[in-house]
Amino acid sequence: MKPRARLVAALACVSLLAVGCARNAPLDTLRPQGPIAHQIYGLWNMVFILAVVVFVLVEGAIVFALFRFRRRKGDDSAPKQTHGNTRLELTWTIIPMLLLGSIAIPTVAGIFSLARVPKGALNIQVQAQQWWWKYNYPKQNGIEASFTNANELHIPVGRPIWLSLNSNDVIHSYWVPALAGKQDVVPARTNHLKIEASHPGTYLGTCVEFCGLSHANMRLRVIAQEPADFEKWAANQARNLMMPTSALGKKGMKVFLAQQCVGCHTIRGTAAAGNVGPDLTHVATRETFAGGIFAFNTHNLRLWLSDAPAEKPGSKMPAGIATMGLSHSDINALIAFLEGLK
Ligand code: CUA
Repeated sequence: MKPRARLVAALACVSLLAVGCARNAPLDTLRPQGPIAHQIYGLWNMVFILAVVVFVLVEGAIVFALFRFRRRKGDDSAPKQTHGNTRLELTWTIIPMLLLGSIAIPTVAGIFSLARVPKGALNIQVQAQQWWWKYNYPKQNGIEASFTNANELHIPVGRPIWLSLNSNDVIHSYWVPALAGKQDVVPARTNHLKIEASHPGTYLGTCVEFCGLSHANMRLRVIAQEPADFEKWAANQARNLMMPTSALGKKGMKVFLAQQCVGCHTIRGTAAAGNVGPDLTHVATRETFAGGIFAFNTHNLRLWLSDAPAEKPGSKMPAGIATMGLSHSDINALIAFLEGLK
């Protein structure tokens, strides 16, 4: 293949890939699903349209000049040279000023409006760490008792959510494109982000600041529910653990409490009160685990409990078999126990 043909083929492949990704992109900012994302999208749209108009006019003028003033056959004289034209210089100063002004005014107004604490908001604290998200739901209207959850943020639809974000280690960034803009999550500092969903559904998000080995494995989900469903969910989350009833589940609980699991994880209603890993009191109500990279099912739990660092590089969870010395029957029992934590 000739170099030029190769270049054209490569460009065609990249374009097809981009179109394919755009058609099936869970992290798509162009399909806002709530009023805040809509506001940002509106701003983006306005800037985009202005930019397209400017691009077409400028490129059109260049193409026009190329043809209109091209060198013709038999014409060897230099083109006419002009120096200084006050009217022209004023025009090309004032037009960009007007354009920038028309972008700046709604942008600045938007920044202030997004930073305003919304009335009647649900307050949730978000704590980032390598490489998962912890959510603290304090007691408030709609939440009868406080509780902690991980990676999956449940919210009621039609109510603004006021997130207070901070980090336990390095800088992360919180992003759920269908519901809001991005917000850096910084140690020793509380940043805020307002989000809201108009319809029930699951909205994907991810960490968007490089934060170490498993940055790509630090995902998140926002699960928007009807307010009544949300309150039901919150009431269940606030309860202590569901005691295992099967023999295998009981054995799993014993293994859990005898192992170093208790040093890192909390299960409310047991002696496990660790604060390094996610609260597992209702882990089986989550769709995913391990920073949202795994669907919550038996197969994935077995992979995770056997060798977590092999599944998620840099994971603080030690390898179950090689490091913690768990047997396969211990792991089966642990899985039965965890799957019962509804
Ligand atoms: Cu956390 Cu990237």
